[in-house]
Amino acid sequence: MWSLCDHAAALSTIVPTVVISERTQVAIVGAGPAGLLLGALLHRHGIDTVILEARTREYAEARIRAGVLEQGSVDVLREAGVGERMGREGLRHEGIYLSFDSTRHRIAVSDLTGGRSVMIYGQTEVVKDLIAARLVSGAPLRFECADASVDGFAGDEPVVRYTHDGADRELRCDFIAGCDGFHGVCRPSIPGGAIEVWSREYPFAWLGILADVAPSTDELIYAYSDAGFALHSMRSPTVSRLYIQVDPHERIEDWSDARIWEQLHQRLASDGFSLTEGPVTEKSITPMRSFVAAPMRHGALLLAGDAAHIVPPTGAKGLNLAVADVTMLAEALVGRLRAGSDAALDEYSDRCLGRVWRAQHFSWWMTTMLHTDPTDDGYGRQLQRSQLRYVTGSTAAATSLAENYVGLPLPQTALLAGVEVDG
Ligand code: FAD
Ligand code: PHB
Repeated sequence: MWSLCDHAAALSTIVPTVVISERTQVAIVGAGPAGLLLGALLHRHGIDTVILEARTREYAEARIRAGVLEQGSVDVLREAGVGERMGREGLRHEGIYLSFDSTRHRIAVSDLTGGRSVMIYGQTEVVKDLIAARLVSGAPLRFECADASVDGFAGDEPVVRYTHDGADRELRCDFIAGCDGFHGVCRPSIPGGAIEVWSREYPFAWLGILADVAPSTDELIYAYSDAGFALHSMRSPTVSRLYIQVDPHERIEDWSDARIWEQLHQRLASDGFSLTEGPVTEKSITPMRSFVAAPMRHGALLLAGDAAHIVPPTGAKGLNLAVADVTMLAEALVGRLRAGSDAALDEYSDRCLGRVWRAQHFSWWMTTMLHTDPTDDGYGRQLQRSQLRYVTGSTAAATSLAENYVGLPLPQTALLAGVEVDG
């Protein structure tokens, strides 16, 4: 006698599931800054892409994360055609403060780097601008794509399978760009032996708040104190973004607004500084880790951004690395798909990783200098204070910090020069 399961199995062999199939040149998995910017750069150079995102548009646009753009990132965003609102609303900063032992010291970042600066403009706004530009361009961008999987990239039949609007779909392509962040599906799909991984966990996390209050400072304050690290950042002339170091096991429910402000007052305290409180509109805790996976290419699968590497946010490098990766990836793909040249594609991983490891070191160094380690017996704090005195007292040491903070100039790619890369 047939069971219900046998019957269903027989039916599924008789009535095959309908799979909607389509083709593009580059399938981009993930609509974070990396995926969206890659789509924008490739679109400008006549390459067809489809961007697949697991979450809703509302979620992607509301995820509060980075706030500092290196000048090189600003230039790329302009080149991608999304620089207009950033130019109007972004805040150009020429320095940062390091605060410790009740004193704030200014690092004159621009003076020390031949005039380079950073732009304060929220990642949420970058993502909104990129999504708006994509929709205007008419190029496909699909939200709420479930169960994505990547296959065939070791050979010449790369495909992304996923479900959307209740239908099973497959997207055949020349290349897959894995821009799906640290928890995405692309990196784990690379066979184990083909990828090497380095990582470090830290014994602290960041509790971040967004507050409807004018920033109490003109430039970002990175504060070292015995109670732990704090950062005063901002999003606009009326919105402040602040962080405090907490234990990674802390629960956000245990942190009332009053408790957070009390810690911020204590940790940011310095001569002549006063912190103004305001209504908290968002708060969350983010763990900190360093992570690199290499190489960033496996056949026709190319990883970019957080899918390949993570840094602790103290150096403000994560988003900027994602921008640098996709700038080089766009150039490599345009070279391959428009001019038939594999040269830049073959160099893609190595070119990215040089910059990635510099940012890894800088982010680790800033993190180690500014956070209190719960396992420290006091020796570490003496070293940290010595380092902070050195960085704020020596032009050579301050210049090194400044140079890393504004970021290495991006390699002058043909894309950035606005040149058509078409053989
Ligand atoms: P993500 O932004 O993670 O985007 C990946 C996208 O892929 C997401 O939209 C995700 O939903 C989607 N996705 C995942 N899996 C799938 C799937 N299976 N199918 C389809 N889509 C999928 N960086 C800086 O440069 N400066 C800063 O000041 C800074 N501050 C930070 C502060 C905090 C608190 C945090 C947490 C991060 C900060 N960063 C900063 C880091 C920065 O936010 C990240 O490096 C950046 O978001 C990386 O972009 P991405 O596009 O590579 O990845
Ligand atoms: C932010 O504004 O979110 C921000 C600024 C500087 C950092 C990290 C995050 O180093």
